[in-house]
Amino acid sequence: EIPSLAEMFKGYFKIGVAIPFKVLINPVEAKMVVKHFNSITSENEMKPESLQPREGEFDFSKADAYVKFAEENGLVVRGHTLVWHSQTPNWFFVDKDGKPASKELLLKRLENHIKTVVGRYKGRVYAWDVVNEAIDEAQPDGFRRSKWFEILGPEYIEKAFIWAHEADPNAKLFYNDYNTEIPAKREFIYKLVKSLKEKGVPIHGVGLQCHINISWPEIEEIENTIKLFSTIPGIEIHITELDMSVYTQAGEEYKTLPRDVAVRQGYRYRKLFDMLKKYKNVVTNVTFWGLKDDYSWLNQRGRFNYPLLFDKDYQAKLAYWALVSPN
Ligand code: XIL
Repeated sequence: EIPSLAEMFKGYFKIGVAIPFKVLINPVEAKMVVKHFNSITSENEMKPESLQPREGEFDFSKADAYVKFAEENGLVVRGHTLVWHSQTPNWFFVDKDGKPASKELLLKRLENHIKTVVGRYKGRVYAWDVVNEAIDEAQPDGFRRSKWFEILGPEYIEKAFIWAHEADPNAKLFYNDYNTEIPAKREFIYKLVKSLKEKGVPIHGVGLQCHINISWPEIEEIENTIKLFSTIPGIEIHITELDMSVYTQAGEEYKTLPRDVAVRQGYRYRKLFDMLKKYKNVVTNVTFWGLKDDYSWLNQRGRFNYPLLFDKDYQAKLAYWALVSPN
């Protein structure tokens, strides 16, 4: 039997995986999850459009199954995600006449969504991505022009954390984003998180999505981000959505993964994890965004990608062996 990933990184950080519901109910795949991982994230099933498709109509059937599965198998759950500009139904943002919702109405809906969801899983979801992708470094003030921002201004961010904390005082609350290695974006996230902390807003961590590719960004840039964020007292870091595209440009496509690319991918994954291990008291969870290559969200972009540790036939790739090999 091949070594368990979670076992290999014991003493450093939890190793997680994002899975769609079909994996949970597939016995072979569920077994693979339990063998290699000690943290799970629902890939889509805890997003607002899944949990509250219509106002006041919550559907927890799938989300409940994730939490139950985790408890039965000794895994933890990362809840993803409470506040986002995407996969959030439009009813949040309009009133009953179809006009833009008022501040008061939208805040009420936000509070109700967060308290209902976080409250339901109190003590059972150990970390929440409370706010996802709120920074846009192209804006002078750094805030993405989402409907949340347009109607509420930046205060929606702190409100979300405060309400999540009220609903579950023991849950670790995260701000989560992508491209956190871009210096301008890194700075805006740093400023946001630092100011939230200084105001006493309950935030406990930053999630680095880490959707990287075979050559970008430099591992040193990921390290720079970890170093900077870890200077904020009381902030830990989760790598929340790790995958490594084998493509760097449009038009590239491999029908099968070339050996040299597979080798490069392995070295790069190894370099990343060797770096992450230096931050074992700071980086506490590293979650892959998918179990096997054919399940990767990157395939939704019209070409097959090979970003994960296991291939479509359940075989461990060189990337896996690079991570579990001794020095
Ligand atoms: C993706 C899912 O993987 C896809 O299945 C879905 O179609 C779109 O969302 N950043 C995030 C994740 O925070 O929620 C996204 O997940 C990937 C990018």
